[in-house]
Amino acid sequence: MDFSTLCIHGSDKKYDTTGAVSVPIFQSATFAHPGVGLSTGFDYTRSQNPTREYLEQTVAKLEGGFDAIAFSSGMAAVTTLMELFSPGDHIIATDDIYGGSHRLFRHVSGKNGLTFDFVDTSDINNIRERIKPETRAVFIETPTNPMMHVTDISAVAGLCRANNLMLIVDNTFLTPYFQKPLLLGADVVLHSGTKYLGGHNDTLAGFLVVSGEDLSERLRFLSKTTGACLSPFDSWLMIRGIKTLAVRLDRQQQTAFRIAQWLKKQHRIKAVHYPGLPDHPGYEISKKQTSGFGAMLSFETDCSETARRVLENLSVIQYAESLGGVESLITYPMLQTHADIPAVEREARGIGECLLRLSVGLESADDLIDDLDKALNGGNADV
Ligand SMILES: Cc1ncc(COP(=O)(O)O)c(C=O)c1O
Repeated sequence: MDFSTLCIHGSDKKYDTTGAVSVPIFQSATFAHPGVGLSTGFDYTRSQNPTREYLEQTVAKLEGGFDAIAFSSGMAAVTTLMELFSPGDHIIATDDIYGGSHRLFRHVSGKNGLTFDFVDTSDINNIRERIKPETRAVFIETPTNPMMHVTDISAVAGLCRANNLMLIVDNTFLTPYFQKPLLLGADVVLHSGTKYLGGHNDTLAGFLVVSGEDLSERLRFLSKTTGACLSPFDSWLMIRGIKTLAVRLDRQQQTAFRIAQWLKKQHRIKAVHYPGLPDHPGYEISKKQTSGFGAMLSFETDCSETARRVLENLSVIQYAESLGGVESLITYPMLQTHADIPAVEREARGIGECLLRLSVGLESADDLIDDLDKALNGGNADV
């Protein structure tokens, strides 16, 4: 079945006898048992709920996974995932990951006895050099947030296999529509479903998608035990959002490409980071491992005053955290998503006072470019 069809008919299960076309929201915390020792398959919503099960089966199919588990946010998903590890375990992570994951690893997982090395995983040698006897996993994000560095997933999967390490890929930016890490050899895919999967900037959600039964059982045990499950109503909002994933992403990507090309011609813009531009260092790997470049980009202005002027003068594009929704959003990573990363480290990675990150939504490309032009050039673009 084609991806677009799976987005709409992702699970074969029917929980309803009325013919309802939309999956019902089973807003029930608990389920009555038909007899002693018997179950309908559902006992208590923290363990499983029909609406959430339908969503999970859909996401598992989209990623080509064995199973998917839905959480109340992306951070709830990654926090639960960290419970697979024990004190003394070592994890190698991409240095330019989402600031919240970085904060969790440093301040919470670190306190629990896990140790981390943060490296530029776009160069596989940086991973190879850090592997030690205590290393258990490699955690990558590709493209990264916000610098858009690209890591070769199959190459890293090969290295992980050879060293018996779990490969975890945060696939939030590209979604399974453009990139399927499990088919490239990853063991676990992580999503902030809050972003493209939900797609409407209205619901928090997270997912862990796994390649096999063993990981599925261990993570389902952790999910029902720690309890950060997705509610029935939010599961339904996710199901609804996913129905339009493919069409949204096609259009958002087209617009992002136009904006990236336009930004490149502006004299107040010093750099544009978008893997779909042929001069991006990750362009060739992206072409090999993805079917699209996505709709996220970041760019550097000539000075911090320009960056601030852009943020304060946009009117269609909103200055707000998050990404992946129908509304275009712009962020100032230095002050928002990456504020908790020590300044020296952050600046060494290029996340300084001139860097802005843009999540391109579904508004018309002309309106978005016009908005950027007014904020950047006062409407007097020099091209
Ligand atoms: C790449 C990435 N991973 C994980 C997360 C965390 O997800 P959530 O905000 O749904 O907890 C985010 C949030 O911005 C993200 O951008």
